[in-house]
Amino acid sequence: MAGVKVVGGSASLPLARAIARELNAPYVDVVFEKHPGGFPDGERYVRLMDSVAGENVVLVQTTHPDPNLVEYLLLADAIRDGGATRLTAVIPYFGYGRQDKRFLEGEAVSAKTMAKHIAVDADELLTMTIHNPDLLASFPLPTREVSGIPALGRYLKVVDVDLLLAPDDNAVRLVKEAAAIAGKPYESLDKTRLDSYTVTVAHKELAVRGKSVAIVDDVISTGGTIATAAKELKSQGARRVIAACVHGLFVGKARENLTACDEVASTDTVQTEFTKVSVAAEFARALRELLD
Ligand code: R5P
Repeated sequence: MAGVKVVGGSASLPLARAIARELNAPYVDVVFEKHPGGFPDGERYVRLMDSVAGENVVLVQTTHPDPNLVEYLLLADAIRDGGATRLTAVIPYFGYGRQDKRFLEGEAVSAKTMAKHIAVDADELLTMTIHNPDLLASFPLPTREVSGIPALGRYLKVVDVDLLLAPDDNAVRLVKEAAAIAGKPYESLDKTRLDSYTVTVAHKELAVRGKSVAIVDDVISTGGTIATAAKELKSQGARRVIAACVHGLFVGKARENLTACDEVASTDTVQTEFTKVSVAAEFARALRELLD
């Protein structure tokens, strides 16, 4: 793709390189440590190792956890100072996206706060499978949500899965999309969140005896949602349970909670040991539509 260069932050290096390959665009290397081991106080450092003057630059960086947000801001500023004519932010997992409204008086609407700061340097923003897509209309820069579900759907089509399951109402739109791509039926559960760590699901008879079931969600954070749904499935005789998500944060006791499942699969929006599919093709398609 002529006139386009791709830069990757340290949270998203494999994905950024894969997007550059898909776009047939040059990849700009970045040095992330001024001295071996980095700054002793943990502050981030970036240095672009190629010119971006006069280029359309695609900057790929997940902004979770917080140091990756800081690194995103440093890279965006360096790209602008380097004379890029256009900066497209690709934020595969948009940190703070789940605080999408003011639940209590005096709170920050954190997702909007992040967008305000991203808009300082970026001309437009692409992000993926965000908690509340309606929120994007309030962002101060053109923003598009790209779905990460096709990548999961392609994976679930070829593995041992009989049925897909949405653990809550919010996941139903995602599971419908994944089920259409995987060519498999879907069901849903009704979840109630009691606090950040605890959820319950209402009992519902599901035809899962002897079946392999994939629970599909946008985010796995503590794994509480998935573990609760997995226990319900196993108690009803499911043979195998796969936890599948777009964004695998796996915080706190997530790894312990996920032992309730036989397999965990996530995409490369957050790179972990459970990353099994890439969303590079999804972002490359959206970027071609935007920049061609
Ligand atoms: C909530 O509506 C989301 O779709 C996820 O279900 C939730 O963020 C997962 O969090 P956890 O893994 O901590 O249960």
